[in-house]
Amino acid sequence: MSDRFTEIAAVTGAAGALGRASAVGLAHEGAKVLLFDRDEAGLKADRRAVPGSVPVVGDATKPADVERAAAVARKQLGPVELLVAAAGMVGPSKIRHRGR
Ligand SMILES: NC(=O)c1ccc[n+]([C@@H]2O[C@H](COP(=O)([O-])OP(=O)(O)OC[C@H]3O[C@@H](n4cnc5c(N)ncnc54)[C@H](O)[C@@H]3O)[C@@H](O)[C@H]2O)c1
Repeated sequence: MSDRFTEIAAVTGAAGALGRASAVGLAHEGAKVLLFDRDEAGLKADRRAVPGSVPVVGDATKPADVERAAAVARKQLGPVELLVAAAGMVGPSKIRHRGR
């Protein structure tokens, strides 16, 4: 693996478009990846696309779920060196609806 890339990564929103693309790319570069998302079915599909990955179902807004994911990462992969925070949703911004 190139020095430019991390070895152990965690990706939130891993079942979504950006998260999955990030996880696939990191694994392609040789990283071991923890996949975190509240979408269990999506994570199952991810696991096939990201070899050697470890999925954790949870809600990124719940500290207990995040702690659990961190513990799984430490135990099964090692210390996480890079976090891709892609959990979220696309919605209308308040700014867009002001004025006029
Ligand atoms: N796609 C883009 O071009 C783009 C551009 C700029 C910003 N963003 C932002 O990046 C984020 C990801 O975009 P995307 O296109 O991959 O969205 P997406 O809807 O495809 O994926 C989002 C994923 O996050 C998960 N998720 C949402 N809330 C969660 C939570 N609380 N805990 C755990 N998982 C949660 C969902 O289950 C889903 O799998 C969004 O916040 C979006 O606003 C996206």
